[in-house]
Amino acid sequence: MKRNVIVGQSGGPTAAINSSLAGVYRTAIDRGAGKVYGMLHGIQGLMEEKYLDLSDYIQTGLDVELLKRTPAAFLGSCRYKLPEIHQDKELYEKIFAILDKLDIEAFIYIGGNDSMDTIKKLSDYAIVTGHQTRFVGCPKTIDNDLALTDHTPGFGSAAKYIGTSMKEIIRDSFCLEYSKGLVTIVEIMGRNAGWLTGSAALSKCEDCNGPDMIYLPEVPFDLQDFKEKVKKLLTKKTSVVVAVSEGIRIADGRYVCELGNSVDFVDAFGHKQLSGTASYLASFIAGELGAKTRAIELSTLQRAGSHLASRVDILEAYQVGGAAVKAADEGDSGVMVTLERTSEDPYQCQTEVKNVHKIANDEKCVPREWITKDGTYVTEEFISYVTPLIQGDVSPVMVDGIPRHLYTPKELYQK
Ligand code: F6P
Repeated sequence: MKRNVIVGQSGGPTAAINSSLAGVYRTAIDRGAGKVYGMLHGIQGLMEEKYLDLSDYIQTGLDVELLKRTPAAFLGSCRYKLPEIHQDKELYEKIFAILDKLDIEAFIYIGGNDSMDTIKKLSDYAIVTGHQTRFVGCPKTIDNDLALTDHTPGFGSAAKYIGTSMKEIIRDSFCLEYSKGLVTIVEIMGRNAGWLTGSAALSKCEDCNGPDMIYLPEVPFDLQDFKEKVKKLLTKKTSVVVAVSEGIRIADGRYVCELGNSVDFVDAFGHKQLSGTASYLASFIAGELGAKTRAIELSTLQRAGSHLASRVDILEAYQVGGAAVKAADEGDSGVMVTLERTSEDPYQCQTEVKNVHKIANDEKCVPREWITKDGTYVTEEFISYVTPLIQGDVSPVMVDGIPRHLYTPKELYQK
């Protein structure tokens, strides 16, 4: 590499996204990049010329190790949709003028399907205008819903957190007896894809029966049927634990969370904020069956829990960051790095690159055959697919009993 690299983080954070950032940084330096800039809050910050020089923050090998163990987006993130090129040519001219000013050879964007839309549009504009900067996407999302890749960095750590938390919740739920039973509903992220919710089944092992039911967004949800199933389970058990996706919908297409308090927030990609599914269902069951209920929304914890990160995930996240820089250095643009599973036993994955046009804005859902016929659990195939991704631990660097992270750049919190 002869010139500079710029890297941004976009979309929902994960426990592994900073490991990809570390991989980008190290590989760019090793390949001779002049400077490695970081966009603050992704493309949105770059448009306002908000960026930093990563070498001011990553100075030692220990800093790289801390960054790999630091959850959330170190550089700040954004949910920003670039307009189509013909709708705002001036905006594209402005972005490319900033890239020219910074002498950028490679633009790496770490994100999910919406963020790949940014790589697609910028690489298209570069082709049309004969611009030399190369644009490469680096996959990331806890949702695991990116097309053409076996899985996405960030998913394995979130799945490990969910499997572990589920097991702890199930243990706790059997401690106290309530006259009409206890029903615990655990709400899990993942929008319209059930990969994370299905991972609640990882809690099922020799010392735990796992949740009683798992509801994925891929299957329409029936409130009355749900009530009957819970009622039946309560005739046999003192405690019922159910995992539900934040994105389950009833047959007419409405999200269950919309049946309670209305959800008004919609992001730039038209996604409604999904929250409140567990509390709606808990009130519904309490009202209908008189049982004690508890609603648990794993929310931010499931994507920020770096103390429970999967070693496989953190290593792969680092690897895809490096592969993105390598691809750009070797002349690729308009592509995203993918993970290809080359062996099941022992588990092995390698990186490739694929055309980002086939990935941007698409959503890969759980195949129907990996969900049981009655739609209330995942199959053994699902579990075999996820299990290798949650293996191994990354020991946090503990200081005074609390995990140490790399300092947040001051530009992120100072007004
Ligand atoms: O895109 C990843 C994700 O974590 C989804 O699973 C979830 O629906 C969404 O982000 C939540 O986003 P926000 O933090 O913007 O509410």
